[in-house]
Amino acid sequence: MRANGDAPHVVQMSDVGLDVSGDRDPAGRGLGPEVSTSYGQSNLAFRDISFAISVRKGTRRDKTPHTEVILAPISGAFDAGNMVALIGPSGCGKTTLLDIIAGKKTAPHEGQVFLNGRPRDKLYSRVTSYVPQQDVMPSFCTVREVVEFNHRLRVDLGDTPLEREERQRIVNEVLGNFGLLRVKDQLIGDAYIRGISGGQKRRTTLARGFVGGAQIVFADEPTSGLSATDAELCVRAMRRASESKGVTFVVVIHQPRVEVAQMFDHLLLMTANPGRVVYNGPFRDAAAYFTKAGHSPEKVGNPSDYYLDVITPDIAGNAAEEMAGLYLRGQAQEVELAVRRQIEAGGKSPLVTVTEAALRLGVSPRTNGKRQLGRHSVSWKTQIVTLMKRRLTLTLRDTRHLKIRFSMASLQGLIVGLAFLDIGKKLPIQQLSFLFMLLQIGALSNMAVMPETIAQRLVFKFENSDGLYSTAAAVVVDTAVGNTLAVVGNFITTLIMFSLSGLDWGMFGMLYFWSIAYFVVMVNYFKIVGAVAPSHAESLQVAMPGLMLFILFNNFFVNQATVPSFMRWALYVSPMAWSVEQIITGLYPHDAELKTFYGYDDSSGQTVMALSVLVGEAILFQAIALVCLAKMNNIQR
Ligand SMILES: Nc1ncnc2c1ncn2[C@@H]1O[C@H](COP(=O)(O)OP(=O)(O)OP(=O)(O)O)[C@@H](O)[C@H]1O
Ligand SMILES: [Mg+2]
Repeated sequence: MRANGDAPHVVQMSDVGLDVSGDRDPAGRGLGPEVSTSYGQSNLAFRDISFAISVRKGTRRDKTPHTEVILAPISGAFDAGNMVALIGPSGCGKTTLLDIIAGKKTAPHEGQVFLNGRPRDKLYSRVTSYVPQQDVMPSFCTVREVVEFNHRLRVDLGDTPLEREERQRIVNEVLGNFGLLRVKDQLIGDAYIRGISGGQKRRTTLARGFVGGAQIVFADEPTSGLSATDAELCVRAMRRASESKGVTFVVVIHQPRVEVAQMFDHLLLMTANPGRVVYNGPFRDAAAYFTKAGHSPEKVGNPSDYYLDVITPDIAGNAAEEMAGLYLRGQAQEVELAVRRQIEAGGKSPLVTVTEAALRLGVSPRTNGKRQLGRHSVSWKTQIVTLMKRRLTLTLRDTRHLKIRFSMASLQGLIVGLAFLDIGKKLPIQQLSFLFMLLQIGALSNMAVMPETIAQRLVFKFENSDGLYSTAAAVVVDTAVGNTLAVVGNFITTLIMFSLSGLDWGMFGMLYFWSIAYFVVMVNYFKIVGAVAPSHAESLQVAMPGLMLFILFNNFFVNQATVPSFMRWALYVSPMAWSVEQIITGLYPHDAELKTFYGYDDSSGQTVMALSVLVGEAILFQAIALVCLAKMNNIQR
């Protein structure tokens, strides 16, 4: 085990080849250098991790499923502060093993994982961090915002006045470690927005995984796609953190340079078909182990490449089976002993670790109350405030989206308004089509919510599975911002249409009230579709049946007087039907003929009912969207 992890996490920037003297806060002001971004140290052990899938092969007649083993039972024990390299041929199950020990595998699997000798509990995700292979971040965020976001949601610095300053210091330090200070204010970007480079994105993902103060960081190919120099910079940053703070890094890595390989303490080498261990011990002892087995890497340039050649089943002259057998007969026993030793030695539970971290950061764990026991590191209020801040920043920064949204809203209003110019001067029966179009166009323009929800869903799924915030917090923020945008857009459209219609302005308030109530219900309906639809391409199909039901049974096309009795329920369900009835009876209170023709009820009881249904549906749809967002389209691993 390494030296005490409470040592101040000060990394010399010269170590990563950067001169950032002007960017850094001199010698940790604020809460003092003892404030650590890490919780401390933890040992990690796992026993008999295995994974198999059921495949259907064979002839058409005989489709009995058979089991294909992906991972044969694998055990291991990593000491706190170790840098562990997980190396093996493509498809051998490295990601699968990493996901299982990180607690991210969704498919059924076997085996036990121990943190400080104790079985994993629900706080495991608070003391560990998972850096996925994909860089999933909002494109309109800057590098610094992304990293700070994670820090804010993983490390509770309380409400001290020094909180902001201290956070800046820690974030700057981590950005420095990962060589990101020069690009800290640049946008992440995507295919359409110029942002940072691919390698910088990779490092940002790694920095955000690390900044949260995890004791163990699991990283799946953090260096893939980076130049050899960048890869070395990344691993060096991890090495520094592991040395100074006792953070354990379990890293899947391909083709590490000799200099990079030297930075790892432990090597877990795997072979394929099925995934098995061939070596599981100190990296520096691997050469002697292979030499003893008759495969000396002495005369080769890069020993890691050589090991891979020896144990890759597809390579001619490989010794995969031999090495796997050798492991089972020899080293496996030592590993089992190490696992047993860790279990016997025990150690701090995540609860103790998290509580101690809170105390060290000057936040009373007592006032945190139940929160200490939850999956999330910060309070519900902090989650909402942090998410809201980011959402508003992203919304205001995406001016292209805002321009399109509001100019299209105006254009729609203009087209319908011109088509029904001065319709207010005509007969009520002639005005009905205008009212129908006003409601219809307004509702349909909210379809923009679907692609928006789908686009944000991926970021949400990744961040939520990392335990940054709860689904409910995300939905509350999304509703507040999303509904406000929709209401503003609808207001513009309705205002333009109404101005051109020549209807009496005295009626505008009533008409706007009932249309906006309908629009809000529809926004939430489209949000459900956004949560349910597998992708953008299918969202329209998924939206159609409900949309058709609401539009057809709108108390105008199909109304109380014409509806088949067995379909009457649809008029009660359709939000448009309630709005249409209220608007028409409000606009033409004395037109008895119209009321009889469509079967409208203009009693005050019916108005109360309409309001209750619309508010009820808005809330119900919102709740359904929340459940669908939490349960559906989850990341499958
Ligand atoms: N949930 C799952 N359902 C079905 N098959 C799975 C599942 N998870 C993993 N596999 C299969 O297990 C095998 C190993 O996959 P894994 O991603 O772990 O390989 P890897 O060693 O990380 O490869 P690479 O180096 O290419 O990333 C693959 O054939 C994959 O399809
Ligand atoms: Mg992989």
